[in-house]
Amino acid sequence: MENILQKIDTTAQFLQKSTYGFQPQIGIILGTGLGELANHIAVEYVLPYNEIPNFPVSTVEGHKGRLIFGELGGKKVVAMQGRFHFYEGYTMQQVTFPVRVMKALGTKALVVSNAAGSTNEHIYKGMLMFITDHLNMQLSNPLIGRHYEEWGERFPDMSHPYDSELLELACNIADIHGFPYAKGVYASMTGPNLETKAEYTYLHRIGADAVGMSTVPEVLVAVQSGIRVFAVSAITDEGYPADRVKRVSLEDVLDIAKKTEPNLTILVKELIEAVNL
Ligand code: HPA
Repeated sequence: MENILQKIDTTAQFLQKSTYGFQPQIGIILGTGLGELANHIAVEYVLPYNEIPNFPVSTVEGHKGRLIFGELGGKKVVAMQGRFHFYEGYTMQQVTFPVRVMKALGTKALVVSNAAGSTNEHIYKGMLMFITDHLNMQLSNPLIGRHYEEWGERFPDMSHPYDSELLELACNIADIHGFPYAKGVYASMTGPNLETKAEYTYLHRIGADAVGMSTVPEVLVAVQSGIRVFAVSAITDEGYPADRVKRVSLEDVLDIAKKTEPNLTILVKELIEAVNL
């Protein structure tokens, strides 16, 4: 049995071989209904997850499940079209395995997107929310378990998980285009159910501006690995105040995410173009 370090190495070597030594500078994780950005990548190699050793397979609608290597905004990128969630039954180590592999491939920055519900009355569906901080409400953590020095610190500082330069660049880009956006705190719940009204209100009171079911595990591993992080939520529904809460279906989430996608696509492309690594 390979241990996790060997698995990361096996997968990274497989990807290096399959892409003739492609070295991505930036990793991208595309959230629910937000896979469109992949169409803007000048694709060099595409690998379905089920062909990649040690990769879990994405089981969720709206997630394609493939790794795309190519160029975007003049930089070499590797994009996950579809991610893994804790609610699918994967361990936190499986959910974050691709981030460890990205690090092994030499990735310096990570751009993460997700669909989320607002818990702030000033943040509406259709807006982008740039994540400035987070609350890990999944009550588990990918850093639990055996630690390997190669990964970075056992007790990584988490006072600045989101890169301030990337955040500022994103705000400038959104301002120039006039995109409706906000900055805020993202809370990650396990899902897969959406929140009750009481839960949305609770999350609001403890300081969350939006809630979703992903992102925080990947960010924790990226920060430990020394990868710079930018994360953005496409706000697809509104959870606060309680009288604004409507029933939400996956179709609604996908539909609003689709409408937000053009702005997100321009934002990420220009952000990648602008950043100095
Ligand atoms: N809650 C949790 N996850 C979500 C939501 C929500 O309201 N909307 C989209 N993903």
